[in-house]
Amino acid sequence: MAPPTLISDTQPWKDLKVHVEDINKTHLRDLMNDSERCKSMMMEFDGILLDYSRQRISQETLDKLFKLAEAAHLRQKINNMYNGEHINSTEDRPVLHVALRAPRDSVINCDGKNVVTDVWKVLDKIKDFTERVRSGSWVGVTGKPLTDVVSVGIGGSFLGPLFVHTALQTDPEAAKCAKGRQLRFLANVDPIDVARNITGLNPETTLVVVVSKTFTTAETMLNARTLREWIVSALGPKAVAKHMVAVSTNLTLVEKFGINPDNAFAFWDWVGGRYSVCSAVGVLPLSLQYGFSIIQKFLNGASSIDQHFYSTAFKENIPVLLGLLSVWNVSFLNYPARAILPYSQALEKFSPHIQQVSMESNGKSVSIDGVPLPFEAGEIDFGEPGTNGQHSFYQLIHQGRVIPCDFIGVMKSQQPVYLKGEVVSNHDELMSNFFAQPDALAYGKTPEQLLSEKVPDHLIRHKTFSGNRPSICLLLPSLNAYNIGQLLAIYEHRVAVEGFTWGINSFDQWGVELGKSLASQVRKQLNLSRTKGEPVEGFNYSTTTMLTKYLE
Ligand code: F6P
Repeated sequence: MAPPTLISDTQPWKDLKVHVEDINKTHLRDLMNDSERCKSMMMEFDGILLDYSRQRISQETLDKLFKLAEAAHLRQKINNMYNGEHINSTEDRPVLHVALRAPRDSVINCDGKNVVTDVWKVLDKIKDFTERVRSGSWVGVTGKPLTDVVSVGIGGSFLGPLFVHTALQTDPEAAKCAKGRQLRFLANVDPIDVARNITGLNPETTLVVVVSKTFTTAETMLNARTLREWIVSALGPKAVAKHMVAVSTNLTLVEKFGINPDNAFAFWDWVGGRYSVCSAVGVLPLSLQYGFSIIQKFLNGASSIDQHFYSTAFKENIPVLLGLLSVWNVSFLNYPARAILPYSQALEKFSPHIQQVSMESNGKSVSIDGVPLPFEAGEIDFGEPGTNGQHSFYQLIHQGRVIPCDFIGVMKSQQPVYLKGEVVSNHDELMSNFFAQPDALAYGKTPEQLLSEKVPDHLIRHKTFSGNRPSICLLLPSLNAYNIGQLLAIYEHRVAVEGFTWGINSFDQWGVELGKSLASQVRKQLNLSRTKGEPVEGFNYSTTTMLTKYLE
């Protein structure tokens, strides 16, 4: 059998390696002068405007990137994903998070079965349950309505739902539906997180949702046991049936834990943890807080992008364009990081969520066939909402390292501030920064400009901005449940496009295992030392010394 081809061995990859030399001779200042070029690099879909004219690319670059996509069999790989092929080959699983938000009447077959039917069975169950809790027909053991929810979960069972919750909190329609209710997230095994999350809560009015795909994650199971104890010690053992529910693919372990399977909400092994926010993982706690109909809009937004991604030609396909541009930035321009900069405080948890989606997916060094990659895949994602970030790390972005930036803006504020009956300009103020930053990065400021401004000689170098720093802008019409769903799906699919192009498996995460198993050895040692006074053994000098000191 012929050895698997790495994307870096293909002609389009080699052509791009040559072509980047030409791009390195250009400056965004000049590229931005060509309004025809800029016009061709703006596109709109379903209310979302993408402007990628500030990427260090020409039309030729784009053509070459599309050739690269062809060489990577991108179209085929996207189809394979939607058709339920086992594209997560190391775990022998399909990757079907798109089915989680597919319309009720659609058909997505996986291993000979239409999974959309199963998805809607669970969605109907969530709708029914959350309506009962919200209306007060499902009450706690003492007869009080359950107004507060603690969602216990970590990683993919936490970050996505937290992002959506944070984004919806100030949306007027969602906020109205959440009146009198609280949703909290307990993720870290750190006892501080437990203390913070139960402070001010009354077990009588609290519902705990244990969210874990595997139902074996050490942190989540410990936190779940702690909260079970918190409920049982206040309300007695029978309270678990009314105050604890679960979301998992492992219903056997849910039952073993003591949660009635009737109160468990299933999902499936074809949903990766970091892609699970549209399953019961997110839909259950979010519907408890906002009501199912709001969350249905969120699913609809994601579904709209799913259809766009599946059926639109690459040159007008937002996730495909974004994914290919990321590959260009990482593999050809050699920029290892990317900043995600939403100009909306409501999106403050978006970057941490995308950090997991992107870095856990594409942080790989072998191809999907297990061949070591002769190039680096994945990027370092980080970010903060604007304008906060401007007063923090933007110095480095403007005058230090080159970090491609995603600027995400929203046309209409969720919460315009009224003063004496008039809208004051907070949102315009925020958006002035959103519009200014990409140009500051692209154009920079030359010594000649500084001289003409009579800047003293000794400051010219300090005040020079080299510019030529790439970014993209995404402009959303507003930030409601639907748009939040769209944004999520754009980023999920962008990560898949990058992985498909690099030829890696974006859907496994073996890299998290080693740390987990070493932690379990340490845990055993700590138990032995604490209960039987046994000395620390079997670790290197450094770890032995630190453990011994810790045990003292
Ligand atoms: O950190 C590894 C990981 O497996 C993530 O991929 C996952 O989202 C998280 O742990 C939580 O896993 P679970 O939902 O099974 O508790």
